[in-house]
Amino acid sequence: MQVCQTNQQVSDLVSTWRLAGKSVAFVPTMGGLHQGHLSLVEQAKQQADNVIVSIFVNPTQFGENEDFEQYPNTLKEDLKQLEALQVAGVFTPDAQQMYPDGFSTNIKAGHLAEGLCGEKRPGYFDGVVQIVHRLFEIISPDIAIFGQKDYQQLLVIKQMVSEYSLPIKILSADIVREADGLAMSTRNQYLSAKERTEAAHLYRILVQLKQDVLSNKTVDSAILNAEQSLAKHFKIDYLSVLDANTLSATTDNTTKIAILCAVFLGSTRLIDNIIFHPKQTT
Ligand code: PAJ
Repeated sequence: MQVCQTNQQVSDLVSTWRLAGKSVAFVPTMGGLHQGHLSLVEQAKQQADNVIVSIFVNPTQFGENEDFEQYPNTLKEDLKQLEALQVAGVFTPDAQQMYPDGFSTNIKAGHLAEGLCGEKRPGYFDGVVQIVHRLFEIISPDIAIFGQKDYQQLLVIKQMVSEYSLPIKILSADIVREADGLAMSTRNQYLSAKERTEAAHLYRILVQLKQDVLSNKTVDSAILNAEQSLAKHFKIDYLSVLDANTLSATTDNTTKIAILCAVFLGSTRLIDNIIFHPKQTT
């Protein structure tokens, strides 16, 4: 496994793979790796000859009062886990590599970034598309893989790739959960033991909401129910039931529904979602 710290090293590495006729799948991360990230790597391995993983905590996607300074850094363990999975390359740039003085290319997120996390965390998705576009430029993978855990991010990235006509295929991977249903996240490390137990209610309530939507309750009453349940355990940031393709209100033409939710448990922000097909009405 080659570990590259500079743009030059990583693009040289990928060039040697290209000359050898190898295809390349890319998994961008911010480190603090867990089984969710590793499932993306497993999928990447099945899709291409060589897999490259980036680890970079991107400052431009954190708001002023967010956790950039505390974000877990577990680089040594991350590298061990990636080595064990026989990843071909890891890119661990610093901020100077990613944003050299005077770096001014300004990539903006498209309209799918407007609601939900985009509304609650202003500038967040602009930061995400800026770094992902930059990484794509330097690495030029054939394929890149993102988790459904960050469902809106996945759609925003797909929109960027389509609008900028980038020759990169975007694949998605299912959410990996703990045994009690909590979606794995680097930020789960922030939870106290008591909060960690409490956190399991989030998925349970979203599953109930899905069942309510499927059992012909009106979406509004189903959401109201879920909000009441959530409020017993969390401070709700948002809870929405939307068309999973457009992130706008569901219609008779909706083929996939998204329940999307963000809550605070103490000072930790948890996000989760469930994507499903509406009941056939024919
Ligand atoms: P990060 O939070 O480290 O996540 C990296 C990738 O892992 C994302 O595609 C995310 O959706 C996926 N992932 C995280 N938890 C998961 C889980 N439980 N199941 C499945 N996939 C999961 O997302 C980012 O970093 C950043 O915004 C990034 C894209 C790297 C840009 O900085």
